[in-house]
Amino acid sequence: MAELRTERLVLRAWRDSDRDPWAAMNADPEVRRYFPDVLTPELSDASVRRFQADLDRRGWGWWAVEVVSTGEFIGFTGLDPAEDDMPFTGVEAGWRLARTAWGHGYATEAAQAALTFGFESLALPEILAVTTATNLRSQAVMRRLGMTHDPADDFDDVNVPAGPLRRNVVYRRAAALGAAGRRAVTRRP
Ligand SMILES: CC(C)(COP(=O)(O)OP(=O)(O)OC[C@H]1O[C@@H](n2cnc3c(N)ncnc32)[C@H](O)[C@@H]1OP(=O)(O)O)[C@@H](O)C(=O)NCCC(=O)NCCS
Repeated sequence: MAELRTERLVLRAWRDSDRDPWAAMNADPEVRRYFPDVLTPELSDASVRRFQADLDRRGWGWWAVEVVSTGEFIGFTGLDPAEDDMPFTGVEAGWRLARTAWGHGYATEAAQAALTFGFESLALPEILAVTTATNLRSQAVMRRLGMTHDPADDFDDVNVPAGPLRRNVVYRRAAALGAAGRRAVTRRP
């Protein structure tokens, strides 16, 4: 599988030692503020197994993120194909960091590496990012990545109970230039 390096971070395979800090993050109501609920340690562990299986199978996905200077695991960032029941298709970028890792530019730095991988190694014409309309920190990451939002893409996620978490926004960024030097397709019909 691919391992991505940035100035301060490495996006790498998941390790057993990530499981406890990952479970602690997923039990933090602030980290899970824009999700329907916090995760039990069992569900948190199951997500690690799923993420690593995806990385093993296709070489990319939700990578574990580590701060190189300290060796500290701080969460995940990466790329994943949109779920079938979403009103869009394509590959999504996403991020979730422990609260202590917020406010350092780590999410944007890690996601920039994931986007570069997606455009250059996977030749994706476009990368999306989706979050609740209320998750302004995540939307700020999207804008820092050069992604843009069209209100016409906003949608209600019917998998989420009615309430403030149901409305979602979609941000998009197109690959600058395709390998053939042509501007890539940015929107599907
Ligand atoms: C979404 C999330 C990853 C954003 O984290 P974040 O720390 O706000 O975003 P970044 O890592 O890009 O950091 C940007 C901040 O670091 C600051 N910063 C500090 N040092 C920096 C540096 N060296 N380089 C860049 N930015 C730096 C920036 O000024 C910015 O601060 P601001 O928020 O006060 O404007 C985080 O809030 C999170 O994990 N939330 C819970 C999970 C979640 O909701 N995920 C998204 C679901 S779709």
